[in-house]
Amino acid sequence: MNIYSYPFFEKYSFLYKKTSWAIDIRHLMVLHNLLMNLDFKKVLEIGCHYGVSSTAFIETLNYKNIEIHFCDKRLTKSIKVIAKQGMLNGNIFLHQEDSLSFLENQINFDFSFIDGFHISEQLMSEFELLTAVGIKNILLHDTNTYLIENINNSIFFDGPPLIAKRLLSSKNWYCIEDKQYREKEETDRGLFFATQNAQIFDMACEIFEYWGKINLTQLI
Ligand SMILES: C[S@@+](CC[C@H](N)C(=O)[O-])C[C@H]1O[C@@H](n2cnc3c(N)ncnc32)[C@H](O)[C@@H]1O
Repeated sequence: MNIYSYPFFEKYSFLYKKTSWAIDIRHLMVLHNLLMNLDFKKVLEIGCHYGVSSTAFIETLNYKNIEIHFCDKRLTKSIKVIAKQGMLNGNIFLHQEDSLSFLENQINFDFSFIDGFHISEQLMSEFELLTAVGIKNILLHDTNTYLIENINNSIFFDGPPLIAKRLLSSKNWYCIEDKQYREKEETDRGLFFATQNAQIFDMACEIFEYWGKINLTQLI
């Protein structure tokens, strides 16, 4: 397994200033390394917002050919800008629509990062639609929001923990989560990966372990 990173703040600081919804840089690198190391051909992100997590997908195109689909019910100007730049290197498809109507007409994703509307009804339906067409690798954000101030027990965040529990209780899925509290980070919100493939799981564990321990100041 190789380790990959990219100078996020140097290249994309204009995205980060705008939002508190985005995933942490540590988790962004986990996502990028999953995409770089695992043999996915067609991948999906549900919920792009300003595009912080989307950069992990777009940066992958510098190294390998992969078909990327971004779905958000409202595509922001900044996601359109960075996607357009990424299109110079490979296949990126933008879908401005509700994730459920999008998924009803889609098949064959190897991997999906799910970070859209966090309410359980939506997440359950996304999960059902993705698994109905055989998805075997899923990454969820905000799976550990129970104890976090302003979020705890909010119904608007009950979806990711529910799906994580369902995956954990299934004999078909191998799961790993990073939900560690780290000062000045929000990684305790939780990043949860589930796969049906034992080899992929082993590699994902290495990726989570590496990025879980690293001192981020080395990267920033
Ligand atoms: C938490 S933000 C995503 C943050 C992004 N993944 C990041 O790390 O920068 C959630 C996004 O989901 C989108 N969204 C909300 N409901 C949706 C739905 N029903 N279908 C598709 N996207 C939805 C919102 O427009 C918003 O951009």
